[in-house]
Amino acid sequence: MANTVIIGAQWGDEGKGKIVDMLSAQCSLVVRFHGGNNAGHTIRVLGEETILHLIPSGILHRDTICLIANGVVLDPSVFLKEADKLAARGIDVSPARLGISKKTHLILPYHKQLDNAREAKRAGRKIGTTGRGIGPCYEDKSARVGIRAGDLTNPVLLREKIRHALLEKNTLLRELYKFEPLNPETVADDVLALAPRLTPYLTDVEARIDEAAARGGDILFEGAQGVHLDIDHGTYPFVTSSNTVSGNAAAGSGMPPSFFTRIVGVTKAYTTRVGSGPFPTELLDDAGTYLREKGHEYGATTGRPRRCGWLDTVILRASVRLNGFTDIAMTKLDVLQNLPVLRICVAYEFEGKRCERIPQEEGVLADVVPIYEEMPGFEDDVSGCTGFEQLPGTARAYVRRVEELAGVGISMISVGSERRQTIMR
Ligand code: GDP
Ligand code: IMO
Ligand code: MG
Repeated sequence: MANTVIIGAQWGDEGKGKIVDMLSAQCSLVVRFHGGNNAGHTIRVLGEETILHLIPSGILHRDTICLIANGVVLDPSVFLKEADKLAARGIDVSPARLGISKKTHLILPYHKQLDNAREAKRAGRKIGTTGRGIGPCYEDKSARVGIRAGDLTNPVLLREKIRHALLEKNTLLRELYKFEPLNPETVADDVLALAPRLTPYLTDVEARIDEAAARGGDILFEGAQGVHLDIDHGTYPFVTSSNTVSGNAAAGSGMPPSFFTRIVGVTKAYTTRVGSGPFPTELLDDAGTYLREKGHEYGATTGRPRRCGWLDTVILRASVRLNGFTDIAMTKLDVLQNLPVLRICVAYEFEGKRCERIPQEEGVLADVVPIYEEMPGFEDDVSGCTGFEQLPGTARAYVRRVEELAGVGISMISVGSERRQTIMR
């Protein structure tokens, strides 16, 4: 039995949704354990695209149950809209196969207001958040003034908590940010209006995981964002507000660390990043444009163009260490087709010295110079390859070199966005 965690090894959008969808065919449960609808996970099956922001990427497999655990921050209306969209396509999203932990914190309108108000005021030092209220919701969780999904069954408590939260938020919104204050009763009325549809989904996620494990089923834990957006270990302050490393699969779902048996890091064959922050291997030339256009590198959540660059194995090695990857899934190898030379960043140079690790002082990563190794590219279309040996020799050499540099084996290679375009080794 394998309890597998899927983690984005870079700055998000590595193709986690595709890998989770593919692996969930054999899983009884798929669990989201952190983040919220800042995530956009894309799945493509026989030409039909599904983008999921909150609902776990196992939902397309009829027999797989999908759970949203305590570590997630959930926007109630986004959840219901996403469920409705799936239901309209004939996908079962009934509470029998979709659940939300009572401990999951809710994103309310004031969280989105504050997210956007702060970004607007940051001028010059914008984080480039998704504007979905993620940071302010996690702040309230830490400040112990958050509203949890379980509160939907207690309208008196919920109203009181919203009034209390807005005492402070409205002062900030009105005085500092010059935004319209929010009426606590309206905020409470609006969320309580959704309660009859939401409460049937409330469940004891830990118990459900326990029971599934006791029956011997495989369980998948779906990470969002990427390691270098981690609130502690990422490129602070240009990060998200949750822990994105594999360790948080435990705290974010209520399972002990000993529960997890496999940890898969997902990396693109190159690197992308949305939003602000350092990105040593970023390409601002034609090669960057080539990757963006051939890889359709536009955000699944905000539609923003993604910044593109060469694969950075300093970043990847840090991810291996922070997460304990047992194996790696490499996606988008097909996008490298027709680049005459492939470059891999193997180390950085900073103030005349070579460094093999990410500098930890804030801001320094923006000033390092990547040291590259060059490898010949490939011209053949690899998008139809179904076995490793079918790949051109230079593509195989690239994969093997990345394995050497990362120190971990690459067990899956994705050569297209379709579910079936995946090479298992
Ligand atoms: P996630 O957030 O990690 O789930 O990734 P996203 O869905 O935000 O972004 C990945 C994008 O790459 C999506 O548009 C996928 O359909 C697409 N994709 C995934 N794997 C491959 C691949 O191997 N080749 C190509 N060309 N596209 C891929
Ligand atoms: P998936 O799961 C890529 C980035 C934002 C911004 C920073 C903080 O699809 O890989 P936030 O709204 O979280 O406060 O924004 O984090 N970001 C992502 N980038 N993929 C994601 O998710 C992301 N989720 C957040 O662009 O730079
Ligand atoms: Mg994404």
